[in-house]
Amino acid sequence: MTAENPLPTIAILGGTGKEGPGLALRWAKFGYPIIIGSRQLEKAQATADKLNNELGIDSIRGFENRTAARNADLCVLTVVHSAHEQAIDGLKEDLSGKILVDATARVDFRDPRPPAPPSAARLAQNKLGDQVRVVAAFQNVPAAALRKNLDQPLDEDVLICADDPADAVEVSKLAESLGMNAYYAGNLDNAVVVEGLTSILISMNKHYGSRSATIQVTGINKD
Ligand SMILES: NC(=O)c1ccc[n+]([C@@H]2O[C@H](COP(=O)([O-])OP(=O)(O)OC[C@H]3O[C@@H](n4cnc5c(N)ncnc54)[C@H](OP(=O)(O)O)[C@@H]3O)[C@@H](O)[C@H]2O)c1
Repeated sequence: MTAENPLPTIAILGGTGKEGPGLALRWAKFGYPIIIGSRQLEKAQATADKLNNELGIDSIRGFENRTAARNADLCVLTVVHSAHEQAIDGLKEDLSGKILVDATARVDFRDPRPPAPPSAARLAQNKLGDQVRVVAAFQNVPAAALRKNLDQPLDEDVLICADDPADAVEVSKLAESLGMNAYYAGNLDNAVVVEGLTSILISMNKHYGSRSATIQVTGINKD
């Protein structure tokens, strides 16, 4: 949120890889103020510059992860899954009072298998404590789909797990701004199943030669 923009400022921590820039592009296009976070300031700024060029804007900023978290209203974690625990070490203070959206799916692309409980998001919540509200989301949204056809809404659904459904409502707004249908899918323990779905989706992509397999929910009328 800035003086000129009522939408919350989103920091994407580890936003220099594949998933983070895709989310950043789409949220920036919708109008959210975006900060790219990285372990290295120069890398964050280079990614921010690239995304600004792609959209013809100059509002996306790049900071080191801790500064990014401090300057945001809400943060999204998109570090490589093997660095998940390491990445949140040291962020507790800067994330205090905020929602951290954890997009981590601890699945190896080369050998996809469902991860063991607890979920990455539960691990993050345990580590970060009560002052941070962790919400698990976007683990099944492929980076390839985010980068493709930027002018079209994302025709897919997103499962949102949170211990407090009110926090899921906040994150649903982010998903809906991208054109997705968002569904509350229970507490953070359920998020391990959502991570596991990524293992299924990667296996399906490999079998069918696709890159953007994802999920859609039927049988629920939200109206
Ligand atoms: N790729 C997808 O299609 C997809 C889909 C859904 C969910 N996800 C999830 O999104 C997350 C990111 O996926 P990705 O494919 O974008 O990963 P990635 O490109 O391999 O890495 C993302 C970023 O992680 C940071 N990083 C690497 N090692 C780190 C460490 N030791 N400590 C802190 N940060 C570190 C790097 O940022 P800096 O070097 O700039 O710090 C890197 O740019 C993963 O948890 C994945 O499960 C990915």
